[in-house]
Amino acid sequence: MNTLLLAIKKIHTACLESLALSTTLESLEQVRVTFLGRKGKVSELMPSLSALSLEEKREAGPLINDLKKNLEFLCEQKKQTLVKERLSAQEELLKDFDVTAYTPGRMQGSLHPYTHVTHILTTLFSSLGFAIVDGPEVETDFYNFEALNIPKDHPARDMQDTFWLKIPGLLLRTQTSNVQIHEMQKNTPPLALISIGRVYRNEATDASHDYMFQQCEGMFIDKHVSLSHLIGTIKFFLQKLFDNKTIELRIRPGYFPFVEPGIEIDASCPFCTQGCSTCKYNRWIEMGGAGLIHPHVLKAGGIDPETYRGFAFGFGLTRLVMLKYGISDIRLLHSCSMEFLKQF
Ligand code: DAH
Repeated sequence: MNTLLLAIKKIHTACLESLALSTTLESLEQVRVTFLGRKGKVSELMPSLSALSLEEKREAGPLINDLKKNLEFLCEQKKQTLVKERLSAQEELLKDFDVTAYTPGRMQGSLHPYTHVTHILTTLFSSLGFAIVDGPEVETDFYNFEALNIPKDHPARDMQDTFWLKIPGLLLRTQTSNVQIHEMQKNTPPLALISIGRVYRNEATDASHDYMFQQCEGMFIDKHVSLSHLIGTIKFFLQKLFDNKTIELRIRPGYFPFVEPGIEIDASCPFCTQGCSTCKYNRWIEMGGAGLIHPHVLKAGGIDPETYRGFAFGFGLTRLVMLKYGISDIRLLHSCSMEFLKQF
């Protein structure tokens, strides 16, 4: 019995010493296994019980139990302390961690330059009371040519090499002017709108030509519409788009079958006063075509040309985008190149 009591005491002391020395959860687990495990020091006491008398067993049994409970309690207590220490060490480590900090590897999306300029134009024209409308890219001969005063054998058709579809009479629109007729048919004047979208031409590709590009078409129909309304509108939007109030327009006669008179509009270079590489040292940049809507076109759209007049204009949106952002090759706009797109 005395040997057993001594052994209990020894185990208790040894365990206290081991606990005091263990500084990690891993070493604490080792201590627990050594003393309380299935083959640990407390279990090893059990066989010596059998050598004792019944009386002594009654006394020694609870003592071993108490030892076990006591050691379990001490191990648990130590565990709590070590867990707390580990957490506060981690907190210390993360103290300066800034969840809002910039991560250099992340790829940020951005708007395509087309989208930027489209937003600017739609905002500007909305502020003037123009509606923003859409038109079909797959079109009939009627809307793309015929109704725009370009009959079958008209030489103007050759200026816009057309992608014809296999379905007879259908084509990919060569100009956004097709929207004019659709809108005239759907509405009654007064009518003010712009339409931005893709157009297609069957031509060879180079730095300034692509078989697909974008145009911005504008149209205003009312009882008293004149060229000065047209010129004022164009000047306003170009000055705003390029954020340059000194932009002036130069008007030249131009031929488009759907307007009479037809004009070509040049703008003074938004980027220089003396000539630069953008305007090719010319001081003027070609911007687009425009004019007063031809009576045949109003008629084709179901509007009485005796009562109403209108102006129309068509600008290369692609060209405006390239000018605004100094893009020298049209193919970049349609390339999906990340190197290029990341800049906007
Ligand atoms: N549709 C013409 C083109 O693609 C541009 C144009 C010229 C549109 C004069 C117009 C206009 O509305 O009045 O070349």
